[in-house]
Amino acid sequence: MTYVVTDHCIACKYTDCVEVCPVDCFYEGENMLVIHPDECIDCGVCEPECPVDAILPDTVPDMEKWVEFNRKYSEQWPVIVTKREPLPDAEEMEDKEGKMELFSPNPGEGN
Ligand code: SF4
Ligand code: F3S
Repeated sequence: MTYVVTDHCIACKYTDCVEVCPVDCFYEGENMLVIHPDECIDCGVCEPECPVDAILPDTVPDMEKWVEFNRKYSEQWPVIVTKREPLPDAEEMEDKEGKMELFSPNPGEGN
């Protein structure tokens, strides 16, 4: 079992989640984070920290694509362990539909 970040994170990137992770398994893209499924220890403490409910356990139905998505990008992006400012339009992007169209595969800065 693992937790994963889903598309609700895109264009928000609040990063509250990284502060609580005991194993530092969040990785930063330009406009979202992902979790490395093999490093996550399933503690669940990050899930309630996300203001937009972007983090889910893989026990939710149809999460396989998100597990693979998180795996793919966590192997390409730098680790992030410290909270940073959300993206500039985070609040207005919280409830936006079709966020995958905004997804950037580019890496973030990491820290
Ligand atoms: Fe980190 Fe625990 Fe969240 Fe996994 S469930 S990403 S180990 S805080
Ligand atoms: Fe993204 Fe939520 Fe973390 S918006 S960066 S998963 S706190």
